[in-house]
Amino acid sequence: MTTPKKLHIKTYGCQMNVYDSERMAEALSSEALGDAGYEMTDSPEEADLILLNTCHIREKAAEKVYSDLGRLKPLRDAKPDLKVGVAGCVAQAEGAEIMARQPLVDLVVGPQTYHRLPAMMARVNAGEKALDTDMPEEDKFDHLPKLRSAARPTAFLTVQEGCDKFCAFCVVPYTRGAEVSRPVDRLLAEARALVDRGVREITLLGQNVNAYHGVGPDGRTWSLADLIWALNDMDGLARIRFTTSHPNDMTDDLIAAHGDCAKLMPYLHLPVQSGSDRILKAMNRKHTAASYLDIIGRLRAVRPDLALSGDFIVGFPGETEEDFEATMQIVRDTGYAAAYSFRYSARPGTPAAEREDVPQDVAVARLHRLQALITAQQHATQDAMVGRETTVLFEKAGRKPGQLIGKSDYLQAVHAEAPDALLGQVARVRIITAKTNSLEGVLV
Ligand code: SAH
Ligand code: SF4
Ligand code: F3S
Repeated sequence: MTTPKKLHIKTYGCQMNVYDSERMAEALSSEALGDAGYEMTDSPEEADLILLNTCHIREKAAEKVYSDLGRLKPLRDAKPDLKVGVAGCVAQAEGAEIMARQPLVDLVVGPQTYHRLPAMMARVNAGEKALDTDMPEEDKFDHLPKLRSAARPTAFLTVQEGCDKFCAFCVVPYTRGAEVSRPVDRLLAEARALVDRGVREITLLGQNVNAYHGVGPDGRTWSLADLIWALNDMDGLARIRFTTSHPNDMTDDLIAAHGDCAKLMPYLHLPVQSGSDRILKAMNRKHTAASYLDIIGRLRAVRPDLALSGDFIVGFPGETEEDFEATMQIVRDTGYAAAYSFRYSARPGTPAAEREDVPQDVAVARLHRLQALITAQQHATQDAMVGRETTVLFEKAGRKPGQLIGKSDYLQAVHAEAPDALLGQVARVRIITAKTNSLEGVLV
């Protein structure tokens, strides 16, 4: 018996990368590869292989990868056998350029070819460099081992990948490729396996998750709502969430599910990006501020307590003060429990990158105004929870002895005094105090 080699993975970007990192760890594990496999480590110093699973969405995210790679140099000097790989969206976007810019990189692998990692690592361990940024026809998930080791109460499940929408600012259609939905039977089998390992909450993932259109066991094309209803029938599963959605794919059946489907949680991340129709058109979003507000109205009609979150881009090329004011207005009109706002970042290869930027100081000032409004709404949402009851899925021990931490129906962190037996269980809690990022409750 040789001691297994160690693998450290650092994950950047969205939840799809979190999911992919787990799949990569499994593909390279001793369980899958025997003696050639790796055991996970949290410490880069201990690792024989370090993989950076990267994000290309904004300039800062991409540049962080290069500064982190630079910091691996001393580790490589101390351990010449250390192998370094770059996976994810920077790998897809920049390919061989990464190795040219940072020679210590041994491996570059795009998001659609993780199932080829074991073969690539065999070459790397033989002293070669390996690069694969194909977007093959075959479904990578069919070729990845299905081990799903961790038995945490919550799990991600990627149901759909890629995007055909081509918003003018966004790299995702280029880094993740065209929209592809996984077949229903595979997803239900994976969900069943998760629930059998103690998972109580599943978050369905996709860059455009509500565009899901997978082949059903009946040969029919299933919508995301169909899939959610099938999961609703699964014994042992308590909660269903999904992210990220596009307004144009908010179909009637999915809106209705928010009213009728008991396990579907009342929280929806629905990015609008801007409140100005002129800017939405320039962004190629293919919806208007009014059509977005109409969707919100219909959702709240069936689920009045629905909590909403969104994404906003500030300082998109051509954005005037009036356009920005329209963004502030759509935030006031919607009322968000949480929202994420970003200063526009020109990305190579996207249509908007050719256009003239809003001056940086103007964009920064607008971002601060928007963030102040969003923060105020977030405080109001938290404060409004005091005195209310919610269910909480307890996920881990709290900071104080006797305390457990979990998430409310509305995805808020909640801590409460509770017996350890409630770990991994859903319980009713009454909220007694609210802070910006957490709530305190008592068991009912
Ligand atoms: N598929 C999702 C998320 C895409 S990336 C969706 O369609 O909403 C997450 C967020 O990053 C986007 O919603 C957008 O607000 C932001 N984003 C994407 N490209 C950006 C860019 N070039 N500059 C600034 N923010 C960007
Ligand atoms: Fe990017 Fe737009 Fe696709 Fe979302 S819908 S991933 S913002 S191109
Ligand atoms: Fe980033 Fe790629 Fe996700 S660019 S946001 S890691 S899809």
